[in-house]
Amino acid sequence: MIDRAEIIRSDAVARAAEVLREGGLVGFPTETVYGLGADAGNRQAIERLFAVKGRPVDHPVIVHLASADQMDGWACEITASARLLAQCWPAPLTIVVRRASHVLDGVTGGLDTVGLRVPAQPVALELLGAFGGGIAAPSANRFGRVSPTTAAAVETDLGDDVDFVLDGGPCAYGVESTIVDCTGDGLEDVVLLRPGGVVAETIEGLLGHPVRARRDGDTRAPGTLASHYAPRAVVELITEAVISERVRELAAQAQRVGLLAMNPPPEVNEFGIVVLRAPSDVDDFARVLYARLREADQHGLDTLLVVPPLPIGIGVAVLDRLGRAATQVRLH
Ligand code: TXA
Ligand code: MG
Repeated sequence: MIDRAEIIRSDAVARAAEVLREGGLVGFPTETVYGLGADAGNRQAIERLFAVKGRPVDHPVIVHLASADQMDGWACEITASARLLAQCWPAPLTIVVRRASHVLDGVTGGLDTVGLRVPAQPVALELLGAFGGGIAAPSANRFGRVSPTTAAAVETDLGDDVDFVLDGGPCAYGVESTIVDCTGDGLEDVVLLRPGGVVAETIEGLLGHPVRARRDGDTRAPGTLASHYAPRAVVELITEAVISERVRELAAQAQRVGLLAMNPPPEVNEFGIVVLRAPSDVDDFARVLYARLREADQHGLDTLLVVPPLPIGIGVAVLDRLGRAATQVRLH
């Protein structure tokens, strides 16, 4: 029997690979967020990628690969920790290694390292397979905006600046990949640069050592700026206990207020606020987080109050992003 969906999908993937080969930009799904892809070996394509993102040139982008076998083509040294953690792939895990000399400065932001990742998303893997080379891809949003988790969000954000968007449905994880720096010599020298879907416990289980948190002086993941994950509204993190009080205060200042919480107390409805319900399951919370932050902007909110999930599993990554987006934290 002819599977129409399959034909449409493989046509779209072939077209996307062609656009990449021609030096164009492709929006594509990954299991974390949508990426804005360019041929990692094409200098002009990378320049255009940065121009469209509006991203400073010293911010490196991740190179996406079809399989761990391709790692050696991008690195000049693969440490034991990098080799070990690459066993997780395909996964929401980016491994930073020393770059091979041919890797473009535009990709690495001038660093002597490169971030590599094999995404766990069938359409992404099909695209990577069809293209053959590395796809450099930041999240498919303009710089300083929230990452897109649907093809529609990519189109809204980037419009005609993206040549082709592959729709692979909503992203399964919803927050960006875990980033680990594996350039240190020993298995105990791995540094967690950004928490994500592969949790620290999994990494530690593979290494047999604790993973270090980033310290001042360690490699920075240059994109992890305060403004990086924020909606336009002011974000305040609060506890459930103070929701009513805080809503009352802000409403008295004639602010347009939104609330993202698992259990919004009924009395807040009196204040005409926008209630964005958060799922109680932490994986679901991660999946809808960026869509909710986008909704906050669509409602033109002045302030979004958020009751964050517990820092368990992917909740650590959700708290990390919310912590960056927040201008105020009142957790007591
Ligand atoms: O899940 C993800 O990682 C998504 C999807 C599309 O794969 N990509 C993503 O890309 O979030 P972006 O550019 O928005 O964030 C990449 C982060 C930045 O914080 C960047 O600084 C860091 O990765 N990064 C990339 N290469 C690096 C390197 N060589 N050393 C340190 N940090 C690096
Ligand atoms: Mg991003």
